[in-house]
Amino acid sequence: MPKNDFLWWRDGVIYQIYPRSFADSNGNGIGDLPGIIEHLDYLNNGTPDSLGVDAIWLSPVYPSPMHDFGYDVSNYHDIHPDFGTLEDFGRLVEEAHKRGIRIVMDWVMNHSSHEHAWFVESRSSRDNPKRDWYIWHDGGGPGKPPNNWQAVFGGSSWTWDEATGQYYLHLFLPEQPDLNWRNPEIHEALFDELHFWLDRGVDGFRLDVASAYYKDAELRNNPFRLGLRPYDRQHHIHDWNQPETHGVIRDLRKLLDQYPERMAVGEVSRGHIVEYYGNGQDEFHLNFNFDFLHQSWDPRGFQRMVQQWETGLPPGAWPCYVLSNHDVTRHYSRYAAGRWSDARAKVAATMLLTLRGTPFLYYGEEIGMRQGRIPHAQIQDPPGKRYWPLYKGRDGCRTPMQWNDWPNAGFTTGSPWLPVNADHPLVNVAAESQDPNSVLSFYRRLIWLRKATPALQRGSYTSLIGQPVGQLAYLRQTEDQAVLVCLNFFSRPATVEFDPAMLPTLGWRVLLSSVSREDDRVLGSRIELAPFEACILGGV
Ligand code: GLC
Repeated sequence: MPKNDFLWWRDGVIYQIYPRSFADSNGNGIGDLPGIIEHLDYLNNGTPDSLGVDAIWLSPVYPSPMHDFGYDVSNYHDIHPDFGTLEDFGRLVEEAHKRGIRIVMDWVMNHSSHEHAWFVESRSSRDNPKRDWYIWHDGGGPGKPPNNWQAVFGGSSWTWDEATGQYYLHLFLPEQPDLNWRNPEIHEALFDELHFWLDRGVDGFRLDVASAYYKDAELRNNPFRLGLRPYDRQHHIHDWNQPETHGVIRDLRKLLDQYPERMAVGEVSRGHIVEYYGNGQDEFHLNFNFDFLHQSWDPRGFQRMVQQWETGLPPGAWPCYVLSNHDVTRHYSRYAAGRWSDARAKVAATMLLTLRGTPFLYYGEEIGMRQGRIPHAQIQDPPGKRYWPLYKGRDGCRTPMQWNDWPNAGFTTGSPWLPVNADHPLVNVAAESQDPNSVLSFYRRLIWLRKATPALQRGSYTSLIGQPVGQLAYLRQTEDQAVLVCLNFFSRPATVEFDPAMLPTLGWRVLLSSVSREDDRVLGSRIELAPFEACILGGV
């Protein structure tokens, strides 16, 4: 494959930064854009001493009253002062691009903040020209909302507005009113805002809640089903995944296609992911597959999901994989197993970075960051406050990045917005950089190997184990390169016997292993794996 064939969002590795928690440059306890700029060399300085990622996705940095920590945008074309200024943003783009790092912005256009000027106008009177930019409706009788829809963060999706005597719709918090995509002015306004960032050199967007833009035109009630929370006690067939939504996504794709190498990745409902690829070329470039976030430590489950993905996508569509993000428990903790926890994290990383699809990393996973324990009094996340102790919210996966063993892990000189994990004296970038066996050293080697190995980026995928019990093994192949990935999910040594007819060669050399191997050559169709060994072999 020619070297210049590299397409960053297909062949590269994307790293999600939760800006509030990455690096604080001014001591106010909140991470910011200058803090990210200071750490760009950590992310990629062009050498294997750095992580080597090809793009960063920033969770929202726009002005916002922060009811949902930025996922409630009050101005789509500026930067929240907590994070810096537009000048800082320009510098970030420039400095990142110098290092070959692309910038992906979070784009929240299902809803805005209730403090957005559009909503302030919309709620000011029933005949305001922007009234119809949001979804307003009369109640279904005294004290009764228009229908039975439930908000993701709890309660009815409708909030009564005393001043104008109608309800407005919000699929999340009342502070996040849903925009009315049935009004073409909304379409125009939000696409204008996208130009603002495209013209500033942004390379891609992560489309928040992209499967909910349109709601049922008649606002029909959702049918009942069994479930624990009221939200789960209905089939969300009328508030999510309406066919008209695909029109917006096709328009977005057309807009992005006017610029070179721009990308959109969709956050869409589980069970509907394939639909948002359209014909493979006309909707999102990528859609998150959240199945892994719900998968226990069982190779059969992972194998099943990969197989579904491999067979279910339309031709030309490209998969992507993720193990952690800002909404779920960190996977290091989900898969923790006492003294084997680091070993499991390395197996998980190898799988994530060698499957056929774009890997998304979440800040801190490369050092094995654990889920933070947040005392009740310090919970910040709205659903955490509402449902504690049943559900403790998402703060635990958003704790400050652990750079070193200083107080507050080198994240801030002030008082951090969320407590720093107590393990930071041991689990941190500086310490792990000194240790060749650390999770961080392993991620670095893995990413740089991937970078140098076209088969791991673009190669075909062939599973070599039909019904895995304890191991996964698969081939990644291009015309002139074969790579074999073997993952032992258990604490017992294992021998994997392959059908020689399935292998392109019987001579392999170990390119990378998560344990130290005495012999880097493997001959024949049997491979011995140490407990929790992740091993990548190249055909010779
Ligand atoms: C997405 C985001 C989540 C946010 C929600 C509402 O699911 O990932 O963090 O709370 O949208 O915008």
